[in-house]
Amino acid sequence: MSEKKSKKTVVSGIRPTGNLHLGNYFGAVRSFVKMQQDYHCYFFIADIHSLTTHPTPVNLQAGVKQVLAEYLACGIDPTLATIFIQSDVPEVVELYTFLNMNAYLGELERTTSFKDKARQNPDNVNAGLLTYPVLMAADIIIHKANFVPVGKDQEQNLEMARKFATRFNHMYNHRLFPLPKPFTFDGKDMVKVPGLDGSGKMGKSEGNGIYLVEDPADIRKKVMRAVTDSGPVEMNQLKPEPIQNLFTLMKIVSSPETVEFFEDKYNTCQIRYGDMKEQLAEDIIAFTTPIRTRILDIRNDEAYLAKVAREGAEKARASASATLAEVKKLIGLKCLF
Ligand code: TRP
Repeated sequence: MSEKKSKKTVVSGIRPTGNLHLGNYFGAVRSFVKMQQDYHCYFFIADIHSLTTHPTPVNLQAGVKQVLAEYLACGIDPTLATIFIQSDVPEVVELYTFLNMNAYLGELERTTSFKDKARQNPDNVNAGLLTYPVLMAADIIIHKANFVPVGKDQEQNLEMARKFATRFNHMYNHRLFPLPKPFTFDGKDMVKVPGLDGSGKMGKSEGNGIYLVEDPADIRKKVMRAVTDSGPVEMNQLKPEPIQNLFTLMKIVSSPETVEFFEDKYNTCQIRYGDMKEQLAEDIIAFTTPIRTRILDIRNDEAYLAKVAREGAEKARASASATLAEVKKLIGLKCLF
């Protein structure tokens, strides 16, 4: 078997909300970068999905370009992975229409993410929101994906993708679509990055993110404001969550010697959190600066972005249209004349 055939296929979509933070990077993007060597990767920007929340055309376009630039700046390599914009591959919308004929109102209404969104935005419960998992299934199975690296919040959508794929295979008595499995990283690669507000993880909606593109001065301000306490009173005292979070972040971005230095200070009750935060801010900045420079460079190079998008779309369309031709034939469309 050729090397090309033996590699499994991976698909993952990213909504164009822009501005990746350290949590996105260490929790996901870094793993995408590693996967491009071992899998046929399709990473795309889910601009059609984002229409469910009615962005303005200006914001939508800015978001798409920003995500594209950020992913490239992080090391997603268009010569290894296929990186494209969802709406550049209209075949997916066609497959979505076909899958919709076998997606039932009851199961769509029961989806947790639909119920959540409907509750949060009762004035905008549109049909696109209801059929969001169907479009997501089409995104995945149109490339016959084997694995989908997604976070916990997307597991139900992925389960539905498997359901729609199975249903299609049964209905036409043909094993066209492999069943896409969630991709689970082997533990050590997946880092949960804490926030700086004392508890929980770093998240966009939590408003506690440190962004890769962020200005060094702003990063310093955010880190210096991180929640701490009045300091340890006993030798080798257990660290309360906000302090543990600072150490966790430090382990991610600083050298082992730096971490050890502050561990010692903590354990001997001599720690000065101000010093620790200053060091942490500098190490975060040292980590983000090269990425930030690349983001800004790439973002300004419209010709390069356009080339990446065009070439990605071409590769994605080749794969999508091959599957779609098989689908239409099975359904009984396009094979009469
Ligand atoms: N729903 C995903 C999210 O919000 C984005 C997405 C769209 C996606 N299509 C996909 C993820 C296909 C993986 C595969 O994060």
